[in-house]
Amino acid sequence: MNLDFESDWLRLREPLDEAARAVGLAWAFGRVLPAHPMIIDLGAGTGSNVRQLAMKLGRGEQDWTLIEKDRKLLAKAPGEIGRWADRNGWEHKEQRRAYMITCDDMAVRVEMRSFDLAQDPAELGLNQYDGITAKALFDLVSLPWLDRFVKELASCGFPPLLVTLTVDGRVEFSIADEDDGFVLDLFHTHMGRAKGLGGPALGPAAPQALANALTGAGYKVETAQADWKIGPKQIAAHLAMIAGYEKAAKEQDPGNSARIAAWADRRRTLASEQGARLMVGHQDLLAKR
Ligand SMILES: C[S@@+](CC[C@H](N)C(=O)[O-])C[C@H]1O[C@@H](n2cnc3c(N)ncnc32)[C@H](O)[C@@H]1O
Repeated sequence: MNLDFESDWLRLREPLDEAARAVGLAWAFGRVLPAHPMIIDLGAGTGSNVRQLAMKLGRGEQDWTLIEKDRKLLAKAPGEIGRWADRNGWEHKEQRRAYMITCDDMAVRVEMRSFDLAQDPAELGLNQYDGITAKALFDLVSLPWLDRFVKELASCGFPPLLVTLTVDGRVEFSIADEDDGFVLDLFHTHMGRAKGLGGPALGPAAPQALANALTGAGYKVETAQADWKIGPKQIAAHLAMIAGYEKAAKEQDPGNSARIAAWADRRRTLASEQGARLMVGHQDLLAKR
């Protein structure tokens, strides 16, 4: 599950993220960028945001910087980006410490930068960028981190920001189980554990906290739901989610491990044999001046 952000999990969730994305906000972000924008992606993993956004931002020339603290994930980014380019029939090559993707109407340069976002945000050099993106990151940050980050945005002239796939706490199974609420409450409490970004993680409170902080600083903010809709065709992702809920809930309440394991067994049966569906609520947000 997404607690250790292994590349397999990121690969599994990438199509769910793509299908969930509020495309209108991505296009609107593209419209406020200049020609040949410089974009910085925070908590980039293996570069999923480049793969999902490059074609929605007006194509042309784009310069991306991927910020990621996990060097193993970052090292996988060129391979994942290369496979994406291959699937689209585009040329790609490494060039001067960056990765280049080219086709008739698009030239995307991607630079990888190992960086821990726990550091002073001033070190990101945000004023060099025309736009900032982040996907599935902001539920990991704390309120003090968010406040410091938003102050940094203000001091850099309020660059536009596209923050997507932030968990908002809504979870619905199409076939209910009596212990869904019990396990999900434990899971969401567990999400609040500190992730090394300034204190307790915001978890499902992140979308509202982010919108409040940005509007308070003077941004105009638009939000849209970007929910994962996991059906029988996404059974691997569904089973991974159940495993993640189970693991976190047991860590949160070890005394109830047997009850949680029984819930997970029933949910696996409902998913595998009865075609149960799962909706996981997320929010996308666009902030601009
Ligand atoms: C849920 S993953 C999303 C990855 C990617 N944005 C995607 O959508 O596939 C969260 C990412 O944030 C990164 N991350 C977490 N804490 C970080 C930190 N302190 N500094 C930089 N990256 C961090 C993780 O390593 C992970 O790659």
